[in-house]
Amino acid sequence: MSKKNSHIIANWKMNFVLNDLQTFFGEFNPPKNIQHQVSIAPQFPLLTTIKPYLDKFNFSLAAQNCCFESKGAFTGETSAQVLNSIGVKQVILGHSERRQYFQEDETLLEKKISQALDANLEIIYCVGETLQQRQDGELHATLLKQLKALQAFKTKNLWKNLIVAYEPVWAIGTGQVATLEQVQEVHSFLQHSILQLYPESEAGGSSVAILYGGSVNATNAQSLFDLPSVSGFLVGGASLKPKDFCIILSVQ
Ligand code: PGA
Repeated sequence: MSKKNSHIIANWKMNFVLNDLQTFFGEFNPPKNIQHQVSIAPQFPLLTTIKPYLDKFNFSLAAQNCCFESKGAFTGETSAQVLNSIGVKQVILGHSERRQYFQEDETLLEKKISQALDANLEIIYCVGETLQQRQDGELHATLLKQLKALQAFKTKNLWKNLIVAYEPVWAIGTGQVATLEQVQEVHSFLQHSILQLYPESEAGGSSVAILYGGSVNATNAQSLFDLPSVSGFLVGGASLKPKDFCIILSVQ
């Protein structure tokens, strides 16, 4: 099923050193006529290096994080402004690994979203529950809590620069993909919740894209994409394998 406004985003996480790029792009042979907006998020120091490769395919550059402040004495941080200045188009925020290992919560994420918006970056905002939260019946409450970080931007038309990625924590990097029923149920819930936040997005005719992430691979991508509420993927492990990633890019 061809869909307008679909995205496939590669989250390379903390993988690949400089020399790996040549190997990756040497084996990377994407299908012609890809129907999705594609971006790759490498580690920060590789952003400018991969840009020429991405330009060749008409793909965009994405970052995995940005600072909660715009500039100044924040040693080791990377501002949304500098990302914009080197051609980055999107930034992933709220990824469960950042929530888990770097204690990022909605208060902090709200500040990061604000920085990204000010720097004209698109925001790929990740939400998703742990297995424990799902088993305890807290799925919807968890998602609503995570979506709260978007509330402050009602008047700022955030929805125009927003992509939401549903990534159940228990499916990330585990090979345990959510069932089609689980994905459909959560995506419908998210669609409904986002429309309540931004009713004008429906009237604008370009509602917020909701991606699925969590063990997407060359085998399961098409059936997930067939779900009407799935507007594409955030892909981790499989995006490091050029052949597998090309198969994922060919879904339609
Ligand atoms: P995975 O990671 O595809 O390796 O499960 C997805 C993600 O964390 O974005």
